[in-house]
Amino acid sequence: MCGIIGIVGKTQVSDRVIESLKRLEYRGYDSAGIAAIENHRLVRRRAEGKIRNLEAVLKAGPINATVGIGHTRWATHGAPSERNAHPQVAGRVAVVHNGIIENFAELKHELAAEGRTFGSDTDTEVVAHLIDRNLDQGLAPLDAFKAALDRLEGAYALAVLVEGEDRLVMGARRGSPLVVGYGDGEMFIGSDALAVGPFTTRIAYLEEGDYVAIYDHAAHIFNTKGQAVDRVVHQVSASAALVEKGAYRHFMEKEIHEQPDACQHTLSAYLDPVAGRARVPGSADQPPLDFANVTRIQILACGTAFYAALTAKYLFEQYADLPMDVEVASEFRYRTPAITPGTLCLAVSQSGETADTLAALRCCKSKGLATAALVNNHESTMAREAERMWPTHAGPEIGVASTKAFTAQVCALSALAVAAAAQRGRIDAKEEARLVSVLMEAPRTIAKAMNVEVAIKALAYELSKARDVLYLGRGSSYPLAMEGALKLKEISYIHAEGYAAGELKHGPIALVDEATPIIVIAPSDSLFDKTMSNLQEVRARGAPVILIADEEGAARAPAGVKILIAPTCDPLISPLAFATSIQFLAYHVAVEKGTDVDQPRNLAKSVTVE
Ligand code: AGP
Repeated sequence: MCGIIGIVGKTQVSDRVIESLKRLEYRGYDSAGIAAIENHRLVRRRAEGKIRNLEAVLKAGPINATVGIGHTRWATHGAPSERNAHPQVAGRVAVVHNGIIENFAELKHELAAEGRTFGSDTDTEVVAHLIDRNLDQGLAPLDAFKAALDRLEGAYALAVLVEGEDRLVMGARRGSPLVVGYGDGEMFIGSDALAVGPFTTRIAYLEEGDYVAIYDHAAHIFNTKGQAVDRVVHQVSASAALVEKGAYRHFMEKEIHEQPDACQHTLSAYLDPVAGRARVPGSADQPPLDFANVTRIQILACGTAFYAALTAKYLFEQYADLPMDVEVASEFRYRTPAITPGTLCLAVSQSGETADTLAALRCCKSKGLATAALVNNHESTMAREAERMWPTHAGPEIGVASTKAFTAQVCALSALAVAAAAQRGRIDAKEEARLVSVLMEAPRTIAKAMNVEVAIKALAYELSKARDVLYLGRGSSYPLAMEGALKLKEISYIHAEGYAAGELKHGPIALVDEATPIIVIAPSDSLFDKTMSNLQEVRARGAPVILIADEEGAARAPAGVKILIAPTCDPLISPLAFATSIQFLAYHVAVEKGTDVDQPRNLAKSVTVE
C-alpha cells in the first residue's frame, strides 16, 4: 500500500514531506520521492529503498519550495527502482498514486500512438500523460484532471502538481482512501490521518469518486459527477495523527504491550459490566442488530483478521448456536456463494480498506444482504459502506504484523457471541452476567500473559535457526496455531504452518523430524489430552517441542518439553490469554534474525490492491 502526501504550505516543503512519509513507512514501501514547484518550475527527487536514501538525494540537491507532493511506493507494476518511483512526470504534470490502473496498458498504447514516450514501467505514468495531454488541448487544470479520471479503470488515490499552478495540489480517490487536512492558511491531502498528522488534526475524508483542488486557504471538493460537495471536517485525536514508538524498539513490540488497553477500550463498547449485559453497538441511523433475526453469519476477512474471525466461529456456535461461515475474502468474492436469507455478512478488518474484503462486502450488499463491518479505522471505506460499523478500539496499529488489532477483534467478536447467545435465548441472564465478567477479566489476563516474554527470549535464538516450523492446536487454539504461523513467517521469513492437531496423521507428520520445531498450543480444556497425544507423536519422531500451556497443563505435560506458561482462564478467553505467546515468539525470533520487524519485506500494512 503506497503512501501519499500533498502540501500547499507556508514553509519549506521538503522537510515536511519527509516527515509525513516517515509516518507512512508502516504501510510498507520500496522507494520514495517528492515533486515541488520551485521558482514556478516543476522539480523532482526520487530514490529507491528507504526514505533516508531520498533524504540523501535532497541533501545533495535541495529544493526551495513550499508546495509539493510526496510518495512511498509499494511496487505493483514495475520493479522497485528510481525510474519507477513516484512522482511520475509527463510534461508539466507530476503524479503520485496508490492503487492499480487496470486499463493502463490500453491507455499507454493510445498515448504512445500519439508519440508520447514513457520513462517507467508503471501504470501511474499514464495518468500524468493523460492530464498533460488534456492541458495541451486547452483544458483548465481541474477539468484536465477530471477528464483524465474519467478514462481510468481500477483503484486510485492520487495527488497531482501542475507546472504553472504555483499554489495548487489536486487529489482524487476511488478505492484507495484520501483525506484533506485543514491547516492555518495552508492545506494538505494525504493517505490517512497519520500522513497529515504532523501539520493538522482537522480532517475531511473524501468519498468514493471525489476529487479535490486544494489552495492556500481552501479545498474545493467535487463528487464523481463534477458537482461541488462539502465533506464533514473532523477533529481527530492527536494520538490518531501522531504515533511514536516511545521506549520500544519496534512498533510491533509496543503494540503487543498495548493489548490490555486495546482490549479494555474495545470491550467497553460491547459490555455493560454493571448490568451484566453484552450489547451490540448501534448508531443514530441504525438500531442495534438483533441476532434473533440472524440465521447465519458469513465472515469476510483476510490474513490475521480471518484467524480472529475463525476463533469466533467456535464461540458463536457454542454459545449462540449460530452457524458461522468464515472464508478468506479473496475466495468468497469470486465464488457464486449460495447465501441463505437471514445471513449477516460481517467484514472483519483492521484497516477497513483491504481490497478483497471490501469487494466481498460490496458483493453481499449488492445481493441485498445485511452487512456489518468490524473495523479499527472507524472512518474507513468499509465503515462507511457497511450498514453497521462495529468498532475495535485498538488505536493506530503501525506494525505491519497485526497484534493488538487481532486481540481487539477477538474481544469484540467474543462479546458479540455472548450478546447473540442472550438475544437468541440460548443463555439466561445469570449465564450472560457470568460470561460478561469473564470477558471483563480479559485485559488483566492478557497483562499477566506478558510475563511469558522472558522465557520466550531464551528460546528465540534456537528457534531462529529453523527452516520449517509447525504450529498445532485444537478447537479455538487451531486458528491461533495458524495466526502464530502467519506471525512467524511474515516477520522472520521462516516457513511455518498452522495445523489442526488432529490433522497431523493425515500428512503433515511426514514433515516431522529433529529439525522441525513444533509449537503446541494447549489450554487445559476438554481437548488437552488429545493434543498431548499429538505432542507425543511428534516427540517420538525427534521433533523439538515448545508447549504453550497454563499451569495445570504444564503439570500434566510429558518430560523433555519446553513449556511457555499462559495464564489459567475460562475457555471463553483462552485465545486471548495464549495470543501473547505466539506474538512474542514471532517477534523475538525476528529480532534474532535481524529482519525489518515493522516493515517486513514485500508486505504492506493494508492490501488496498488485489
Ligand atoms: C497480519 O499480520 C497481516 N499484516 C495481514 O495478514 C493482515 O491481517 C491482512 O492484510 C488483513 O488486513 P486488514 O485487517 O486491515 O483487513
